[in-house]
Amino acid sequence: MVQKIVISVSGKGGTGKTTITALILKSLIERGSKCILAVDADPATNLPDVLGVRIGRTVGMVVDELKRKVDRGKIPPTVTRKELLEGGINSVLVETDRFDLLAMGRSEGEGCYCSVNYLLASIIDSISRNYDLTIMDMEAGLEHLSRRTDRDVDVMLIVTDASKMGFQTASRIREVAEKVHIDFKSMFLVLNQFKSGNEEYWRRIAEEIGFELIGIIPVDPNVEYYNLVGRSLLELPGDSPAYLSVVKMVERLGLLNNHF
Ligand SMILES: Nc1ncnc2c1ncn2[C@@H]1O[C@H](COP(=O)(O)OP(=O)(O)O)[C@@H](O)[C@H]1O
Ligand SMILES: [Mg+2]
Repeated sequence: MVQKIVISVSGKGGTGKTTITALILKSLIERGSKCILAVDADPATNLPDVLGVRIGRTVGMVVDELKRKVDRGKIPPTVTRKELLEGGINSVLVETDRFDLLAMGRSEGEGCYCSVNYLLASIIDSISRNYDLTIMDMEAGLEHLSRRTDRDVDVMLIVTDASKMGFQTASRIREVAEKVHIDFKSMFLVLNQFKSGNEEYWRRIAEEIGFELIGIIPVDPNVEYYNLVGRSLLELPGDSPAYLSVVKMVERLGLLNNHF
């Protein structure tokens, strides 16, 4: 039986969440995994660019449109809000031959429309159940997670750089996740943009704050170059140092053997 897995990638801004998400996706695709959903849950919507996928509208735009219709009393009596929202979200889902992509984008005035946000979470939840694996590129901070997708997370990866600040943010993210009752089965720290130095030192620092460091991803000139020229990270050469380290991490997480 295929086990459905949800991975979320969070961490401080600029640490490499989108990059790591893209490289995990690449490693899964290259091992022949199909039926993957990538969710860009960061309102900045960088993931499509990094993956070289063109998107049209975002879920946020669909939500705003629905809110406007609700405000003007323009919802036809024969359809429910849920049906409208579901239809809208399905229309923004981008299908590629290797994976599907859903960009959450931004919606205005989130706080005042609890019912719509609740519906949104449950629809995203049910869409992701159609895939063997869902990987979510989160925004910095976790405050919005429960409102957007309250689906349980199997593997929560927190990306940090080699700085005290990054590690502190990781602890804070764990606190928020616990407070908003996101049910995660496992949580790991990923050290990215690692230049050089004592890996053991950072492993110990991670342990001291109760994290297992599951991957150390080096700073990679190929990643920098692909970012600069706007090329998809899915096309990154297979011998790129950051990619090789991500493959090792994905193996360690058991994502390449048992589940697919
Ligand atoms: N391992 C790496 N090697 C080189 N550059 C990296 C690496 N990881 C991330 N970057 C670069 O750092 C910047 C921020 O990364 P990004 O993935 O967008 O972070 P986030 O999504 O956390 O904001 C980007 O320019 C990206 O290309
Ligand atoms: Mg990002």
